[in-house]
Amino acid sequence: MSLARFTSKLAGQRVLLVGGTGGVGISVAQALIEFGASVILSSSRETKVNQVITSLTNDYPDARDRVSGHSCDLASPNVEENIENLFKKVGEVDHIVYMAGDRLPTVPLEEITLKGWQKCNQVRTIAAILVVKVGTKYMKKDRNSSIVLTGGSISEKPIAGGWSMLALIGAGINGLARQLAFDLAPIRVNTVAPGVIATDLWQGMGDEVREAFFKDLEEKNPTGQVGQAEDLAEAYLYCLRDANATGIVVNSNSGTFLV
Ligand SMILES: NC(=O)c1ccc[n+]([C@@H]2O[C@H](COP(=O)([O-])OP(=O)(O)OC[C@H]3O[C@@H](n4cnc5c(N)ncnc54)[C@H](OP(=O)(O)O)[C@@H]3O)[C@@H](O)[C@H]2O)c1
Repeated sequence: MSLARFTSKLAGQRVLLVGGTGGVGISVAQALIEFGASVILSSSRETKVNQVITSLTNDYPDARDRVSGHSCDLASPNVEENIENLFKKVGEVDHIVYMAGDRLPTVPLEEITLKGWQKCNQVRTIAAILVVKVGTKYMKKDRNSSIVLTGGSISEKPIAGGWSMLALIGAGINGLARQLAFDLAPIRVNTVAPGVIATDLWQGMGDEVREAFFKDLEEKNPTGQVGQAEDLAEAYLYCLRDANATGIVVNSNSGTFLV
């Protein structure tokens, strides 16, 4: 019999993907299924959760009993109650991957308002901390348990176009993961910081502007291509699989820091 020391690392583990029905989440879910893990998807819309479950089970019919999901609206004023209810349904997990993010709030500094800034934080930072707070009650205190947060290359690499709120959030997520890695040890906590990845997140830009934006990145960035969700999935897998990694930021960004 051949050895499977590496490919079996995630087999049988339960991984909750918060914001797991978007482009990145679906790729991470596919990878986890291929590595034998059980995937629990969550996002604000039940129809979308069910749609993604159906699509994943069509692609991986043998994994039907390893894919499930529940809606949980993180933008609601009742966010903490929603999260408590989510974990009551989900039960024990080995890993939590937090990748929920609503429409990109790119606005020039002069248009930032208190309300807009609070709204921008609700899903990306406020709910993230609450998911960790509630979720750790459902995790073993073990270095094989982990939490992965999602930041962005904007925390290190400024770009034009109204990114100040997101730069602060991205930098804050890196700091939060470091602090939580310390506070929650031996549970590991890491951040994945994506550069631009071609998913629906960029849909709000409109086709023409998005195509020009991607083309410009392809000309500038060392890899010559905008990142794909299946590329980025590797960064999340790494954080889950390396039981020696905690308090770090894993970058996957087409080499944008070099230019
Ligand atoms: N794609 C990139 O270039 C890029 C770069 C840097 C960082 N990121 C970050 O990486 C994460 C994943 O990105 P993506 O490209 O996969 O984005 P996406 O396709 O827009 O997916 C976002 C996910 O968040 C969920 N979500 C949105 N509002 C929510 C709410 N109120 N409550 C619960 N879930 C909510 C969405 O589902 P519902 O809408 O159904 O709720 C979806 O599952 C995001 O946090 C994004 O900001 C992405």
